[in-house]
Amino acid sequence: MASSALICETDAWKDLRAHVDDIKKTHLRELMSDAKRCQSMMIEFDGLLLDYSRQCATVDTFNKLNKLAEEAHLKEKINLMFNGERINSTENRSVLHVALRAPRGSVINSDGKNVVPDVWQVLDKIKEFSERVRSGAWVGATGKALTNVIAIGIGGSFLGPLFVHTALQTDPEAAQLASGRKLHFLANVDPIDVARNLTGLNPETTLVVVVSKTFTTAETMLNARTIREWISAALGPQAVAKHMVAVSTNLTLVEKFGIDPNNAFAFWDWVGGRYSVCSAVGVLPLSLQYGFAVVEKFLKGASSIDQHFHSVPFEKNLPVLLGLLSVWNVSFLGYPARAILPYSQALEKLAPHIQQVSMESNGKGVSIDGVPLPYETGEIDFGEPGTNGQHSFYQLIHQGRVIPCDFIGVVRSQQPVYLKGELVSNHDELMSNFFAQPDALAYGKTPEQLLKENVPSNLITHKTFSGNRPSLSLLLPSLNAYNIGQLLAIYEHRVAVEGFVWGINSFDQWGVELGKSLATQVRKQLHASRKKGERIEGFNFSTAALLTRYLEASKD
Ligand code: F6P
Repeated sequence: MASSALICETDAWKDLRAHVDDIKKTHLRELMSDAKRCQSMMIEFDGLLLDYSRQCATVDTFNKLNKLAEEAHLKEKINLMFNGERINSTENRSVLHVALRAPRGSVINSDGKNVVPDVWQVLDKIKEFSERVRSGAWVGATGKALTNVIAIGIGGSFLGPLFVHTALQTDPEAAQLASGRKLHFLANVDPIDVARNLTGLNPETTLVVVVSKTFTTAETMLNARTIREWISAALGPQAVAKHMVAVSTNLTLVEKFGIDPNNAFAFWDWVGGRYSVCSAVGVLPLSLQYGFAVVEKFLKGASSIDQHFHSVPFEKNLPVLLGLLSVWNVSFLGYPARAILPYSQALEKLAPHIQQVSMESNGKGVSIDGVPLPYETGEIDFGEPGTNGQHSFYQLIHQGRVIPCDFIGVVRSQQPVYLKGELVSNHDELMSNFFAQPDALAYGKTPEQLLKENVPSNLITHKTFSGNRPSLSLLLPSLNAYNIGQLLAIYEHRVAVEGFVWGINSFDQWGVELGKSLATQVRKQLHASRKKGERIEGFNFSTAALLTRYLEASKD
């Protein structure tokens, strides 16, 4: 395929289109009866087990998807990413989040320069700083230890760190290291988020980390100014130097804000916001909370998947298989959504994080060359931990829309409980559901089965489950920092694979700009109307009417 041609014009794409009819004729019940097929669809790597036998796909489907990958130059694109080429062409940037977790001493070049030493210089600085704060060597303006940390940031400067923090919170090793400390996240510009964060906090014992790649994001900067005021009002303006540090690529703006550049932790334009949790964006707040050693394990887990993704043949490559399956489900079977269903409460923030990684990356309407696409890209990601989701939206995924599901289970619980007299441990109870749900979706329940159970005839259709609903199961050995890193990298690379095959730029996000600039116009109008009584001008009828109501009804 020529680099500017669309993937849908290739023979491999057309072949897959034709293949859909064969697959639609075959029920998962039938596919699941072939043990050889099922065995070939289970792969293991570094303690992880992926079972994708409940996908509506045959071995032939995978051969065809491999052809598609070839036509899309998937291998070459992966290599370009790892080689630091500027594959984010609309922003003229390379995409090197893999360098953030590369082992010390390895070589990853961007523009002919090895970036790994720079990465480790910042990691060493974080280690030293976080140890000083945690040990009480770095104290606040009144000499008290800083035991609370507020990380201010939004989007990629928030969701990844929140996901990892939530996952580590109940890991016994991490929890012990975090004893006596609290990490808070302030993301929303809604003053309610500020109020909730500050409830019970004492500025004397609080350290603030302002996290923003650009250091221009309106919400983050307003929240940072609000918290700076909170510190200054309580402890005096000179206290800011002891109580506020920053993470950014824009160190000039950090200094302008009033944060000592010595207390700024850098990262680089080759780290996309939603791929930045392994940079100082995540590493600093998480090291302050858990200590650097725990975070280093997380980086190692991610790095293990990076090496696997870069080197293992596609038929055994976890992110590649997952990415190709997503393309199959979205572009060929026509399923636009994906449910992320971890059977672990500790992973409750996985879906919100992956929502940004996936939807901001792959929700695009044009190819990387700017050609409008005649096919949809991206999927609608959502999810909740099991079993909570079962009592919420599972009805729809069992009997309503077909939504491919990712079931994620953990072998050893972070917090095992075995109550006397109970049939199974609490974790076994949870996992019973993890094992049952994929089969319920795949096999369903037929009217014949219901008749045999003497179900009244008026309820037969209501109680029938069509089945044939695809899912995959990923089993993790445990949920510690290392496994969390693995999980993160699997999803990051899966999203990249999808984007590479669809032929889009997964690393820009122009779609967030229009709303931001319209908000600027509204902000100016609100200011002009409130302060100078200026009339509302330049808006359509509807927006003008809403603004008028808002201004009038909110007058003191
Ligand atoms: O929502 C758009 C976005 O640019 C995200 O891509 C990014 O993660 C977020 O805003 C925050 O940006 P910054 O880190 O520059 O404050």
